Amino acid sequence: QEDKFKNVISHAKEYGYVFQSSEIYDGLSAVYDYAQNGVELKKNIREYWWKAMVQMNENIVGLDSAIFMHPTTWKASGHVDAFNDPLIDNKDSKKRYRADVLIEDYVGKLDAKIEKEVAKAAKRFGESFDKVQFLATNSRVVGYKEKGDAILKRMGQSLEKEDLADVKALIEELEIACPLSGSRNWTEVKQFNLMFGTKLGASAESAMDLYLRPETAQGIFVNFLNVQKTGRMKIPFGIAQTGKAFRNEIVARQFIFRMREFEQMEMQFFIKPGTQKEWYEHWKEARMKWHLSLGMGEDNYRFHDHEKLAHYADAAADIEFRFPFGFKELEGIHSRTDFDLKAHEEFSGKKLQYFDHEENKSYVPYVLETSIGLDRMFLAVFSNSLQEEELENGTTRTVLKLPAVLAPTKAAILPLVKKDGLPEVARKIMEDLKWDFNVTYDEKDAVGRRYRRQDANGTPFCITVDHDTLEDDSVTIRHRDTMEQKRVKISELKDIISEEVSM
Ligand code: GAP
Repeated sequence: QEDKFKNVISHAKEYGYVFQSSEIYDGLSAVYDYAQNGVELKKNIREYWWKAMVQMNENIVGLDSAIFMHPTTWKASGHVDAFNDPLIDNKDSKKRYRADVLIEDYVGKLDAKIEKEVAKAAKRFGESFDKVQFLATNSRVVGYKEKGDAILKRMGQSLEKEDLADVKALIEELEIACPLSGSRNWTEVKQFNLMFGTKLGASAESAMDLYLRPETAQGIFVNFLNVQKTGRMKIPFGIAQTGKAFRNEIVARQFIFRMREFEQMEMQFFIKPGTQKEWYEHWKEARMKWHLSLGMGEDNYRFHDHEKLAHYADAAADIEFRFPFGFKELEGIHSRTDFDLKAHEEFSGKKLQYFDHEENKSYVPYVLETSIGLDRMFLAVFSNSLQEEELENGTTRTVLKLPAVLAPTKAAILPLVKKDGLPEVARKIMEDLKWDFNVTYDEKDAVGRRYRRQDANGTPFCITVDHDTLEDDSVTIRHRDTMEQKRVKISELKDIISEEVSM
């Protein structure tokens, strides 16, 4: 698994998808740049989302609100007071940890230990794994694991002071039960706010403290009435936007899974109070369908319903994806009640109400939110697509089986040789196709090597121009995934490619 993930990261660099930010200065941790292919893949994912959410739903409209917002926004939303992660430092190693992530690591390690011990015992006593596991539920190790699980459940938005002491005590116990950090000397657990602060204004006295937005959602809430009125929107309706968000994440690992600067794709759906249950189910299903439409395998997704809810939610679930390091959150679906709009009414002193003509009354709508990280979706698509294939002749090929609709380059046009007029014909084909698709031209190296290069790049089609083309206006089209080659007329190319790559 670890190797697979390392391959993903190095392939992303080698093929111009993702670079470490400011690499020549040794990089900036948890900040990344999207390179020539990455920017195309990212744009295609964004468009695929936008089409499904905005274009296909007449009651959902778009928005592009500013990253800077009035600072009171973040008082109202609860981010100033509650957008914290619990931090703990190890005094010996001088290493800083996010307490919940550290406990997760201990629990993971304990899990593995339990499984190993149970399997060993089952073998020794000739009993079934399940029976031994049942008998083992009282063991010390299992006790620690359960304690770890229990405290993880309590962690999240609303840790009280006493909880923080419990967290520290548990980390001390866990370190003895299953050493991870190699040292037992811990500081107290502190709450650390994840928002980045900055200043607006030229002089020190008049400057205003601002935050970089930690989510795009608040830009939608504060514009709710403007959009509703000017767009004459009737409830239920939605507002969607994509854009950058910033969080000063403590644990910066797992490549673009958890970044300090990232992009979100969020949609707030405004509904009549009391209808939230049915809309919650509707959007859970709709969003899962969207994921499955990309054909990346049903087994790779699952729902995780939250037992512990954030301060603003009355129901919440994640869509989890099987990343190279296990199932992790990819998207959240949250029933946010009227928490946000009511809070903005209170802090701004402005009414944020909708007049419902059918009911003949005004109310503050409830909100159903879908929120997905664009970079995280990129990682899901990219890591799932990267495959090593054994071929019949005993060799292997590296192929990036990106869903064709998302692939940065749709086709590569290859003249078989660099002479006899073949390059000119190939260029002519490229000139025609580029109005409709991102295409590329490649004449370097033997054609077999060029195929492999395009496989690793994720290009769904290779189109080869050979000497027969000069006679019959036909070319060979090769499919990335099946490696099948077919002879087709140049005039058919556009339709053949369209069929697979159109959104
Ligand atoms: N408005 C709700 C909200 O922001 P969230 O669960 O904090 O909810 C939503 O974030 C999604 O944004 C996550 O499911 C994840 O895909 C993405 N996301 C959150 N933090 C991220 C980070 N540091 N790096 C990359 N993606 C992140």
